[in-house]
Amino acid sequence: MLKTPEEIKTMREGGRRLAAVIQALKEKTEPGVATRQLDRLAYRLIHGAGAKPAFLRYRPAGARHAYPYTLCISLNDVVVHGQPSGRVIADGDLVKLDLGLVYGGLYVDAAVTVAVGAPGRREEKLVNATKEALKAGIAAARPGSTLGDIGAAIEKTVRKHRFTVAEGLTGHGIGRALHEEPTVWNFGKPGSGAKLVPGMTLAIEPMVAAGGGELRQLLDESWGTADGSPAAHFEHTIAVTQEGPLVLTEI
Ligand code: MF3
Ligand code: CO
Repeated sequence: MLKTPEEIKTMREGGRRLAAVIQALKEKTEPGVATRQLDRLAYRLIHGAGAKPAFLRYRPAGARHAYPYTLCISLNDVVVHGQPSGRVIADGDLVKLDLGLVYGGLYVDAAVTVAVGAPGRREEKLVNATKEALKAGIAAARPGSTLGDIGAAIEKTVRKHRFTVAEGLTGHGIGRALHEEPTVWNFGKPGSGAKLVPGMTLAIEPMVAAGGGELRQLLDESWGTADGSPAAHFEHTIAVTQEGPLVLTEI
């Protein structure tokens, strides 16, 4: 599902707005704040930016229920799809903020991990490695490369730091819907899979565990590491262009 240059321009505008909202949420991710306060803030800021939440009432493939919140907020060993609640953020929490919006009829999606207060050395390394993996994945997203090149770049970076790609969770095409073809795996063989062409818009999102990559689904349908080890997640929506990858979800 290729996007026109005009559509990519609109997604860039939406992406700028999303990046600004995430930045504001990061600044409020501090001890004493309940995760549902951040959800409410995300809702207000997205509407204030002339956009709509992308996750609210969305039903992910395989989920039994529509998602009832604006923000996915996943703490510590929870990797993704954590639900806002009365849980109060504490010093040392590893907080994943995952947020999407619809602007001008087009979807953008991004995620960051915030280490609150004084994180452990292992958590700090995990966050940096996951950020580096996203950067490597994005750098591989150029015309003539393949989906396998993106996955291989992510996997190689994660392994270099002796961490593990979370099993079964992937990035995705995005634009006219939150989740479009293709599936963007966080591992792969260089040169394998579909060729990347200008006009593709992809959500690239390494999800990385400090311990084993096996996951378990929790009662609220979020995904946590099976061994309880901490996990990190970074995500950008990008466009493949003639000139190379264009990050849409930054200011
Ligand atoms: N952020 C998730 C993704 O990147 C989507 C969350 S879907 C929700 O695919 F329904 F849980 F919000
Ligand atoms: Co996504």
